[in-house]
Amino acid sequence: MREGKIVCSCRHITVGHITQAVVAGARSFTEVQREIGVARSCCRCREYAENVFAAILAEYEQSQKKEPRLF
Ligand code: FES
Repeated sequence: MREGKIVCSCRHITVGHITQAVVAGARSFTEVQREIGVARSCCRCREYAENVFAAILAEYEQSQKKEPRLF
């Protein structure tokens, strides 16, 4: 996903802002809303923003998995 892509036009929130919220510890869409205010005005972006958040969280969690140790 392109980091600069606008997700919420009311608040000028991008994919990058949501990524930063996840990296900072947000693990639910409600937490992301609280942190950066996404989907808190007209809410037309809500479904898209939730999907973007879910994809970013899944990718982040996958990147955090450690390789299993053999010994
Ligand atoms: S577009 Fe996100 S709250 Fe309006």
